[in-house]
Amino acid sequence: MDTYILGIESSCDDTSAAVLKNTKILANVIANQDVHKFYGGVVPELASRAHQQNIIPVVHRALNAANITKKQIHAIAFTNGPGLLGSLLVGASFAKGFSMSLGIPLIEVNHMHAHILAHFIDDEKQPANPEFPFLCLTVSGGHTQIVLIRDYFAMQVIGQTIDDAAGEAFDKAAKIMGLPYPGGPLIDKLAGQGDVGAFKFPHPNIPGLDFSFSGLKTSILYFLRDQLKEDSNFIEKNKVDLSASIQYTIIEILMKKLRKAVSETGIKQVAIAGGVSANSGLRQAMLDESEKSGWKVYIPKLEYSTDNAAMIAITGYFKYLKGDFATQTIIPFTRYANQS
Ligand code: KG4
Ligand code: ZN
Repeated sequence: MDTYILGIESSCDDTSAAVLKNTKILANVIANQDVHKFYGGVVPELASRAHQQNIIPVVHRALNAANITKKQIHAIAFTNGPGLLGSLLVGASFAKGFSMSLGIPLIEVNHMHAHILAHFIDDEKQPANPEFPFLCLTVSGGHTQIVLIRDYFAMQVIGQTIDDAAGEAFDKAAKIMGLPYPGGPLIDKLAGQGDVGAFKFPHPNIPGLDFSFSGLKTSILYFLRDQLKEDSNFIEKNKVDLSASIQYTIIEILMKKLRKAVSETGIKQVAIAGGVSANSGLRQAMLDESEKSGWKVYIPKLEYSTDNAAMIAITGYFKYLKGDFATQTIIPFTRYANQS
């Protein structure tokens, strides 16, 4: 029998609903919140309000696009964390009400695990499913982790950032350069026309498989402050080279630890996931490494890199098969918890 899962994602500033038929994608609707652009970052209260406004229309659009009625849904999966509490509560409360009114199971999903399991969405434009065990570099606006995945629900974080996330490094660098939020995609675009070797920024010296990005932010800040004293147009004149050099440094920091993880675990199947996996430089670095070192790499379709509900629905599907359901008293969590 076919199983239809409705997925809901509302952890940060995107309201999204998706419908899966087994592992196959039928609909993935995302409402972005432009309001945060004016503030240079996500404003939690405004995000909660926008989710509250968007959630019902987004679910309707997803059901229409999937061409099914709500009565055909077997279970509803929602992001239970990590994320902004007010944002998470909108999705959790909606999911609870939907599950209760239809008498269908409620499934809680860890947002970071869902980024990884997005690789298993059956979409003709996605590459083949990763084979277990594999490593995943999960890089988003709030997290940077190297995860060893033995099975859908056997995931171990073997390295992580001790301060800023990779996405934050992109966004903060962009902010220093006067670019609007979120700066990651803009740096990516500008970097394409720049010289990666134009400016050199220091790499952190962190033991093991952990990362640090706060030093990079500080060195960019001081470097630009000094340059602007000499030439107030320095950033404008060097925008593309600065973007290319900053992007290259972030990617090198990430790839260095990923290479170390491959050599320590002996696992050469390597995936990337999360918003920063949309970065064209990181995608190319993975392809280059595949060519050079024989890694089998898995790069998600762009739509499943940044926040989306399809990844919540696929995780929900695997939990549905296990009968792993949540109760109505479940409460969202804001910080990463090592659980599925
Ligand atoms: O996974 P995601 O959509 O949301 C979180 O869970 O945080 O990741 C958002 C992050 C932001 O920091 C954004 O700037 C970054 O992903 N991002 C990018 C690109 N697209 C999104 N960073 C670099 N290059 C991109 N193309
Ligand atoms: Zn995310």
